[in-house]
Amino acid sequence: MEKFIIRGGKPLKGTVNISGAKNAAVALVAATILCDEPCVLENVPEISDITKCMKILRQMGADVRLTDKNTIYFDTKNIEKPVVPRELAETMRASCYFLGTLLGRFHEAYVPMPGGCNLGDRPIDQHLKAFKALGASDDIINGANYVKADSLIGNQIYFDFVTVGATMNAIFAAVKAKGMTVIENAAKEPHIVDLANFLNSMGADIRGAGTDVIKIRGVDYLKGVTYATIPDQIEAGTYMVAAAATKGDVVINNVIPKHLESISAKLRKCGVHVEENDESVHVWVDAPLQKTSLKTMPHPGFPTDMQPQFSTLLTMADGTSIVTDDIFDNRFRYVAELRKMGADISVDGKVAVIQGVGQLKGAPVSATDLRAGAAMIIAGLAADGITEIDNIHYIERGYESIDTKLKGLGADITRVVKPDNTDIKLSV
Ligand code: EPZ
Repeated sequence: MEKFIIRGGKPLKGTVNISGAKNAAVALVAATILCDEPCVLENVPEISDITKCMKILRQMGADVRLTDKNTIYFDTKNIEKPVVPRELAETMRASCYFLGTLLGRFHEAYVPMPGGCNLGDRPIDQHLKAFKALGASDDIINGANYVKADSLIGNQIYFDFVTVGATMNAIFAAVKAKGMTVIENAAKEPHIVDLANFLNSMGADIRGAGTDVIKIRGVDYLKGVTYATIPDQIEAGTYMVAAAATKGDVVINNVIPKHLESISAKLRKCGVHVEENDESVHVWVDAPLQKTSLKTMPHPGFPTDMQPQFSTLLTMADGTSIVTDDIFDNRFRYVAELRKMGADISVDGKVAVIQGVGQLKGAPVSATDLRAGAAMIIAGLAADGITEIDNIHYIERGYESIDTKLKGLGADITRVVKPDNTDIKLSV
């Protein structure tokens, strides 16, 4: 099992380059199933969720090749059966995108229940609502989702609440349906816009992505293209918070500053300097961190995927901060790990009350999910002493070369491979 060992207390200094967006790339990779010709994706992050999506496509018969660093060639014409193998599909949430793309192409799809970070109950009722609106039926067969349609006819889809995944899947199912589909109460995340841009570059007719009403006129044919994924707003935000937590001075390169506005605003509220340039943001600290209140919202609000990282920062701020995460049932499982480092946090349902303690202390902790793992790294970088983080496979799902990138900023972080049965003797 791999672990990270971090010796904290060193301010991060220098420049870091952001990779392609995980939550855009997993959707774009699934969307290649809809393309009638070979296509190429560039700026794809080298992360395990992408590797798994590539393996699933290959197991289904597609020709998928890494042709250069972060560049992948897809030819999905040889996929014959709309059936996703169980083993990999159950390890990530993004596998549910194969439901929409296989349904959109074959009018049929058999996909195991999606997995992904344990953030509480994560049903797909809104995804199925979208498919049924277009004429599909759904069933559970041998524990997997099965959807089928004689034909897909454009219709109005009104989501009960904003959902990224269901918005993506509605687009997948509608893009080749007959006639017009109107999605109301759509998610507006940057990765929704990226998907629409990718499909439109192939010849789809999708308008309004990035607003809460998306109109899709079905087309018959999608031509091959080469397309570059947008930069990852959450990876960028994670490095912004890490710079603030270590009282560092960091330029985060290859970003779209507009995607980071809610994160930049919150950091400024805490007394952190954030300077925006065309394709980078500069983050530095020259005063004590101030408390703030935070409520996660769908885009353009503060992203839930930044909540664990920002809450970790607030454990070091002066005063009491309140963090509310309404998006998921339970996104505070990492709090128990932060308490091992001296954090003073109480959680009641979807609200955390954080008493700033000034300085965390290194300790052995676990990553409980992807963004919680990133939060443990931030805590370790800022803490006094040594922090050991296990279960780092969660972190590798969404951060390309995070230890290498942090070392480039002066962090003392080491990846070690330890047999499961020994503890690391920590010299403190
Ligand atoms: C996507 O998950 C992201 N994952 C998540 O990122 C992100 O936290 C989330 O969107 C919100 O931005 C990927 O893109 C692969 P939702 P998704 O549908 O699509 C409930 C990360 O760290 N819901 O917007 O699953 C759901 O349970 C990951 O990168 C239903 O009840 O999120 C949740 O409470 C974690 N029924 C809320 O809505 C449905 O049919 C928002 O879910 C769909 C969702």
